[in-house]
Amino acid sequence: MRRLIDSLEKNHCLTKEEWTALIAQEAEKEYLFERARALSRKYYGSKVYTRGLIEFTNYCRNNCYYCGIRRDNTDAERYRLSEEEILDCCREGYALGFRTFVLQGGEDAYYTDERLVSLIRRIKASYGDCALTLSIGEKSKESYQMFFDAGADRYLLRHETADEKHYRKLHPKELSLERRKACLFDLKEIGYQVGCGFMVGSPGQTVECIAEDMLFITELQPQMVGIGPFIPHHETPFAAEAAGSVEKTLYLIGLLRLLKPNLLLPATTALGTMQADGREQGILAGANVVMPNLSPVGVRKKYALYDNKICTGEEAAECRGCLSRRMENIGYRLVTDRGDPAEI
Ligand code: 5AD
Ligand code: FES
Repeated sequence: MRRLIDSLEKNHCLTKEEWTALIAQEAEKEYLFERARALSRKYYGSKVYTRGLIEFTNYCRNNCYYCGIRRDNTDAERYRLSEEEILDCCREGYALGFRTFVLQGGEDAYYTDERLVSLIRRIKASYGDCALTLSIGEKSKESYQMFFDAGADRYLLRHETADEKHYRKLHPKELSLERRKACLFDLKEIGYQVGCGFMVGSPGQTVECIAEDMLFITELQPQMVGIGPFIPHHETPFAAEAAGSVEKTLYLIGLLRLLKPNLLLPATTALGTMQADGREQGILAGANVVMPNLSPVGVRKKYALYDNKICTGEEAAECRGCLSRRMENIGYRLVTDRGDPAEI
């Protein structure tokens, strides 16, 4: 197994059989994490990049079986932030040291292309030294181009799974893996820094599915990959399913660091939800990004993709400070920086 880990570090690819063997065994964990940490140190030193996450709408037209803000969850209390409220989040975030803002939301028809373009322009006009990331789902290539021309720099769109059969198990029939992948290639072609990703341990996921994810990531060559454990939400069809494993997530973070040494890899909120020091563990497994919540405290509980999400209470008004202390405890530091990929 050490041979496969060395081969991945050297060649930045493996065959499907090799991926499957490595992921199934989760072997040589400490060795993998050491290699992964050495690479993140080489490219990023002790720096951890931050992105201020603004969850600006939880209205969503989609009905993904795993997600707490799916259309059919009539229990969800819907909200959307106004342009002014979003700009307030940015102002607050800028003062705290954020130089990347991530606008994340459900696929909400209120936020038309025109409204989004106006919002993007205003944010970029006020914070020209910041990167702006969008995470608002599937759109036409024309819309993606308009947002890019308005100033958006990055786009997060997790592919969720690269295995056709597994994709069908997670999504209703109006969604397709083919379309999802096409969106990611469109975004890349336009010139965005692109992030894909998937949940670890989602219902029906096999080791072969994860091997497919790794092959897809090798093909797409995204700048970012977000992974986190699946966590059931009580008002979804997957309410009774088991959560994904923190250990497997950490192992996959290590493998992703070797696959693409300068990758922007977040230690996700889902990881921190499953285990108190999950995000610290993520950094120690090779991650180099954290995404503290910048949404107004009053709406945070409503953006519940899964149960027991951290950072939704009054005590979490200032996630950046909390994460800064957490990172210092393990020998890393949060930096005030756009956080672009390092040159190879
Ligand atoms: N558990 C963990 N992650 C989830 N996401 C959505 N629902 C869940 C869940 N129940 C992830 C998806 C999505 C991202 C924004 O959050 O991968 O792309
Ligand atoms: Fe949000 Fe610690 S990061 S409270």
